[in-house]
Amino acid sequence: MKTLSATALAHPNIAFIKYWGNRDNALRLPSNGSISMNLDGLFTRTTVTFNSSQRDLLLINNHAVMGKGLDRVSYILDLVREMANINERAEVSSSNNFPAGAGIASSAAAFAALALASSRAADLTLSEGQLSRLARRGSGSASRSIPGGFVEWKMGAGDDDCVAVSIAPPEHWALTDCVAIVNASHKKTGSTEGHALAWTSPLQSARVADASRRLDICRNAILHKDFEAFANIIEHDSDMMHAVMMTSNPPLMYWQAATVGIFHEVRAWRASGLPVGYTVDAGANVHVICLADHAKEVEKRLRDLSGVNDVLVAGVGGAARVIESA
Ligand code: DP6
Repeated sequence: MKTLSATALAHPNIAFIKYWGNRDNALRLPSNGSISMNLDGLFTRTTVTFNSSQRDLLLINNHAVMGKGLDRVSYILDLVREMANINERAEVSSSNNFPAGAGIASSAAAFAALALASSRAADLTLSEGQLSRLARRGSGSASRSIPGGFVEWKMGAGDDDCVAVSIAPPEHWALTDCVAIVNASHKKTGSTEGHALAWTSPLQSARVADASRRLDICRNAILHKDFEAFANIIEHDSDMMHAVMMTSNPPLMYWQAATVGIFHEVRAWRASGLPVGYTVDAGANVHVICLADHAKEVEKRLRDLSGVNDVLVAGVGGAARVIESA
């Protein structure tokens, strides 16, 4: 084995057409395709070093992590060991430059960086599709943090072709995500537990049956830079996912009063000519997407709203990349 250590960087992403529910939970084959953009400036940086120790070790921001977090990482390392035909355990050291609980899913960037760093450390050169597929096994949305810019994760027929591809590079369209951080007093249910509940909602089958229509509208809006169509479809898709969440058994209510307050503001701003639209993941924070030229104004307006504690700002990010290998 030539290479023993590699460091990779990956950006989180925000979904415009959401992934919610799996057709196969173990393989993380989603019930519907999804579309996202990577978030520039925010990243996870992960170093993987294979060594002679007895067990895998995981450090996140220099703190050792055990239990489920470590198991999930070892599961990806096992897939890499199998592909590379090696037995060495690994030390994985990961850090984020964005705060935990900031309403940005860290698992997407984390598993994309892990897939790239661990495969490269094991001296494997995987294609973008193979990397996306590997990252998917750790966290579904991580499949979308492998390619750059605007990305579509295809459902595929099965494990082999269930991968994400770039539909446009970062410079295609200058969009900005202004993430309004809202007070979240309730403990939230994580995505993995949430996906498992999706099919308990009678609305999920209608949402999934309609997914290709929404994907087409969103893809076309991005390709043609049609902001009005884009804003309408991302809000519609986000609302549909939350309708499924709210009507699952047990129900998941991620929105806070301030979340809904921001929806009303964003729609009023758009009606008065400001190019903005909202989307919300499995939390209370609102991702307000706008044309980059208007980001300063949007950020200011969000900061002035009661119930908004902070605003994070990110443009369109590139692909996951290796930054060191030895
Ligand atoms: C609401 O990818 O975090 O953000 O595969 O269990 O790790 P796991 O789930 P995850 O789910 C993301 C859900 C979402 C929508 C999306 O990003 O598409």
